[in-house]
Amino acid sequence: MARNKIALIGAGQIGGTLALLAGLKELGDITLFDVVDGVPQGKALDIAEASPVEGFDAVLKGGSDYSAIAGADVVIVTAGVPRKPGMSRDDLIGTNTKVMQAVGAGIKQYAPDAFVICITNPLDAMVGVLREACGLKPEKVVGMAGVLDSARFRYFLAEEFKVSVEDVTAFVLGGHGDSMVPLARYSTVAGIPLPDLVKMGWTTQEKLDQIIQRTRDGGAEIVGLLKTGSAFYAPASSAIAMAESYLRDKRRVLPCAAYLTGQYGVTGLYIGVPVVIGANGVERIVEVQFTAEEKAAFDTSVAAVKGLVEATKKLIAAA
Ligand code: APR
Repeated sequence: MARNKIALIGAGQIGGTLALLAGLKELGDITLFDVVDGVPQGKALDIAEASPVEGFDAVLKGGSDYSAIAGADVVIVTAGVPRKPGMSRDDLIGTNTKVMQAVGAGIKQYAPDAFVICITNPLDAMVGVLREACGLKPEKVVGMAGVLDSARFRYFLAEEFKVSVEDVTAFVLGGHGDSMVPLARYSTVAGIPLPDLVKMGWTTQEKLDQIIQRTRDGGAEIVGLLKTGSAFYAPASSAIAMAESYLRDKRRVLPCAAYLTGQYGVTGLYIGVPVVIGANGVERIVEVQFTAEEKAAFDTSVAAVKGLVEATKKLIAAA
């Protein structure tokens, strides 16, 4: 049986890490694409030269022509510009909207059967532009944000409780921005919800609130430290988990930016919700019941994403 093909559009910090992880996990053959000629070829060759040491078999190629992605089973998009200190994800909208339109056209021509994962920020707006530009069905185009946001939440909680990260689950909904909604009620240590852990004296509500805020600011914390770009290891790991669930039909329940058609009272918008990812792409959108407070927080996040989508529409109309 032929190997799967994974195409990575954008061979920068996240793109290179994606290629290495996809190789280490033997997800398939890997093609890196970038507008800067030489970079995708160089990264592909460098990782290929690591393969004998790491013991994985994969054909790694790089290219600057969209034909390089032909026939891809999975396409992961990181093309565009990342944040610098002081910038919000939303400041990237002008450049990255145009990039998503070009990338979408490339996918439409060369990889119309792929499962497409968008990472480019501002995520919830960019995944919508990408979907429209590539014309694929919404269940085949998702945004990576929730896995990363919940991984950050899980890591901070595991650190606070001094337990394995493996035993911490976290639930984060809404847009990938300052208004994201980490849900304590659905986040657990070995099945014990966070509010119960507060009652059990494992932590305080104040400490939990601080962790929730740190999760919301998780991306900015890394940008502030790196100064020259944004996070790339954890975003790459998160997207690979989504790709793996699709390629191996694992049907994992993962928080992703998915296209809503009435769920949570939202229609025609990409926003972070838990979904089941299997061989058909997004196979199910999980709709939980909100408390009044959670609903208000989710609605605020939806309004923020709608604002961004309107801004991208104006940019597209003016172009
Ligand atoms: N087509 C393909 N690649 C492009 C295009 C384009 N039109 N425009 C830019 N690129 C490439 C750049 O040449 C660069 O190699 O996208 C790559 C982006 O890589 P980095 O600048 O290293 O950014 P990275 O940290 O990988 O983040 C990429 O993901 O998390 C988001 O906010 C982040 O939007 C940013 C994206």
